[in-house]
Amino acid sequence: MNSKTRSLTGITTTGTPHLGNYVGAIRPAIAASHNPGAESFYFLADYHALVKCDDPARVQQSTLEIAASWLACGLDPEKVYFYRQSDIPEIPELTWLLTCVTAKGLLNRAHAYKAATDENREKGEDPDAGINAGLYMYPVLMAADILIFQAHKVPVGRDQIQHIEMARDIGQRFNHIYGGEYFTLPEAAIEDNVATLPGLDGRKMSKSYNNTIPLWLPAKDLRKAILGIVTNSQAPGEPKNPDESHIFSIYQAFADPLRTAMMRAEFERGIAWGDAKQLLFELINTELEEKRNAYEVLVSNPSIIEDRLQSGATKARVLAGSMMEKLRHAVGLRSLRSFRPTPAESGVGATATGSIQSLQAAKAPYFAQFKDDHGKFSFKLFDGNGNVLLIGATFDSPRDAGQIIASIKQQSPLLTDGSGMQAMIGGSVVGELKLSKPDVQAALDQLRDMETSKKNAAAAQGK
Ligand code: TRP
Repeated sequence: MNSKTRSLTGITTTGTPHLGNYVGAIRPAIAASHNPGAESFYFLADYHALVKCDDPARVQQSTLEIAASWLACGLDPEKVYFYRQSDIPEIPELTWLLTCVTAKGLLNRAHAYKAATDENREKGEDPDAGINAGLYMYPVLMAADILIFQAHKVPVGRDQIQHIEMARDIGQRFNHIYGGEYFTLPEAAIEDNVATLPGLDGRKMSKSYNNTIPLWLPAKDLRKAILGIVTNSQAPGEPKNPDESHIFSIYQAFADPLRTAMMRAEFERGIAWGDAKQLLFELINTELEEKRNAYEVLVSNPSIIEDRLQSGATKARVLAGSMMEKLRHAVGLRSLRSFRPTPAESGVGATATGSIQSLQAAKAPYFAQFKDDHGKFSFKLFDGNGNVLLIGATFDSPRDAGQIIASIKQQSPLLTDGSGMQAMIGGSVVGELKLSKPDVQAALDQLRDMETSKKNAAAAQGK
């Protein structure tokens, strides 16, 4: 099994990255991506951007700036999944499947939607005035983002906790309705040690307060912006309380403990605000200088970024594609080639549609073990008509091969399109497909159903 913890987070592409985004999201996420026990997914949530922004140039510009920022700050697209939401068509596809299991009442209670309707009510307007259905559906799209990749952890700000809970609810409901552990249920990961940066006016740095310092200002503009942060009117030489100063809290977000302690001492000694701001500028500028150069190169070469995003999408779609295939099958969006009447349906269907199909369907797929020319053990899976569906991997003993057969029966392997079509269980290849994926999938489903009914029968007899 995959023992790594998968963490996934999306960044809405509507704005220009600022220092608050850097400290609160970009820097900690990139640090987390270096953890060997983690498997990280970062994506540009451009479908989400459309909910609040109908300016195409701005969406594109923001996509460029955000992607360039993450790459410039050291995100390694070889080590993580880095992609653009709209390059993964499986996400909107899953959104629809989830939409059909989501209680409308759940969406009525989403904070963002409720806030918008409450505001309308206060103004005496129709509650839904000016609200697009995208805002209403936002949590379902977000659930699809998370569930399609089976993420365990979702690092987000506190304002997003409800969305993660809704993703859990929706995933759980799907699992329940379709009777399987299709989705891993995600958890919000709230980083408590991550600083929230004050902005120019001392309130939390945020686009909505219009108090941000853009991340990639040229050095002299960055200095000017920092000089503009509000302070009180204490004179040079007057001792200052670092714990009440925005300058100090920003300083702390960039400094190691030693520097922080030195700055604290400077405050107590009465450093002038101008000097404190100069030190703050130097500290931030040192951290960003090299990254800024990398950023400049990247934003002026958008096609390099596009290439990275495309290879990220290719990588991510291998996972998304096999997940969707399972889900389509689960809900009954299935190839008719694999049609067979289910017990419940057969009462109606067996007489009406004739017996040929049901006879064929009744023939179960089966395994046969064999020893190959090199003395290794393997197996084949046949359909009811004796066509080879799958040739197994090779094993040193017949027992090992037998165990793999048993687990194939129980847990339907993933069918992938890697180099050749393969069946995988827990990340290892267990066989190679010899017929089309839908054909093999149908047989695997039939095997699993047979296994389940065997188990149920045994349970019923109290064994
Ligand atoms: N809604 C998130 C925000 O505004 C962005 C987002 C979209 C997201 N899809 C996601 C975050 C999936 C985490 C996981 O911040």
